[in-house]
Amino acid sequence: MQILKIGLLGLGNIGSGVYSLIKRKNKLIAQQSGVRLEIVRIADRSRSLGISVPKHLLTQDVNQVVRHPHIDTVVELFGGVQPTLKFVLTALRSGKDVVTANKALLAEEGDQIFRMAERFDRKIFFEASVGGGIPVIQGLREGLVTNHIQSIHSIINGTSNYILSEMTERGLDFKTALKAAQQKGYAEANPTLDIEGGDAAHKITILASLAFGKMAKFKDVYVEGISAIRHEDIAFANEFGYRIKLLAIVKKSGDGVEARVQPTLIPKHHILADVNGSYNAILIRGDETGDVLFYGKGAGQKPTASAVVSDLATLGKARSASSPMRFPRGHLTVKNISTILSRYYFRFQVIDRPGMLAKISDVLGKHHISISDVIQKERRTGRVVPLILLTHGVHESAVRRAVHAIDRMPVVRGKTQVLRIEE
Ligand SMILES: NC(=O)c1ccc[n+]([C@@H]2O[C@H](COP(=O)([O-])OP(=O)(O)OC[C@H]3O[C@@H](n4cnc5c(N)ncnc54)[C@H](OP(=O)(O)O)[C@@H]3O)[C@@H](O)[C@H]2O)c1
Repeated sequence: MQILKIGLLGLGNIGSGVYSLIKRKNKLIAQQSGVRLEIVRIADRSRSLGISVPKHLLTQDVNQVVRHPHIDTVVELFGGVQPTLKFVLTALRSGKDVVTANKALLAEEGDQIFRMAERFDRKIFFEASVGGGIPVIQGLREGLVTNHIQSIHSIINGTSNYILSEMTERGLDFKTALKAAQQKGYAEANPTLDIEGGDAAHKITILASLAFGKMAKFKDVYVEGISAIRHEDIAFANEFGYRIKLLAIVKKSGDGVEARVQPTLIPKHHILADVNGSYNAILIRGDETGDVLFYGKGAGQKPTASAVVSDLATLGKARSASSPMRFPRGHLTVKNISTILSRYYFRFQVIDRPGMLAKISDVLGKHHISISDVIQKERRTGRVVPLILLTHGVHESAVRRAVHAIDRMPVVRGKTQVLRIEE
């Protein structure tokens, strides 16, 4: 039987889940995979751990894990980029394989980490870094290996999805929905990374690298969050037959690749439109398989710990089979957002005056933007009212120039809401 001697970095939410899962299910894991998991050392600086573990396992000195002579596998669950990167590189250099759930680390420093792993002939598994308990990494690496990936459309941030679902279903405004998410434990005290799209961008960077076999750069991903979405946008979108979702998208486009995170209008009948609450879904289009959907709990202690431990079992099996590991090589060129073609939703705040719609249409026309639908609900002459326009396909650069001009017109008040539509 293959035995993995494990060093755990972090005994927080996921680390304690991993510890207790290994304790509870070690026999089952050994039966199913022929791999026995043995925890040798755990490093954590926190004085208030939510789980009790034998004292001899615990240390506050990270080097006692990453350089431990009897540990062959380091499970990194500290989170964050620094100083975690330093510990992961030391572990690889010291001959240890690494399992991590850390999307920020891989998205921002994956290049360095994979190069180090290759140099020292080590393995890295990171199933839990995207989609919590959903086996999407394995799906991309193995299940879809015969495919050229055409596109990935995903809902991979549970916090934002929960907030948008609450705004849609219960008619809440953004701030109230965010508070509800925090009370339910779905949102952190500082929710910026989730609601401004950074977390989803980390995850789509990883998926893009696996899908296209080259390292995508996190900073090339265009990111917009959901904090500017108003309840009225959701209501207007609904009238046109759409839902608003925070989508993380990567797709082939001509000879390049688009990679972006943004609140997006999708038709109500689209399969992703019904992914609600804290659930995640990743829709992958392969040239052989067509659409494949991964759906499930994208975070939380149990699903995430399950993904980490399944990586350990896979790693143990791979060791006995000594199968070669493939890492993405070279850099993936991501197209600049200004060159991307999309349909758009605009919400202008305008003073209701005769001829106002014609003036706005005129500016849009000058930028070659053609309108597909219009809603102007309230008619209150002289007052500020919302005017909603949907467009046909147009380039982002033209939209930016047109909106910049329109926002400076005397009949327009406030910043125009601009959202993309993904059919
Ligand atoms: N939570 C989820 O649902 C979820 C889902 C998917 C992936 N992940 C990923 O899993 C990882 C762990 O997340 P988590 O929710 O378990 O975080 P967490 O609850 O904050 O646990 C991290 C633990 O590691 C300790 N720690 C961090 N840096 C350390 C250092 N340099 N030296 C010693 N101890 C250190 C922390 O101590 P302090 O408390 O003192 O900082 C804490 O006890 C992250 O990369 C996260 O993105 C989490």
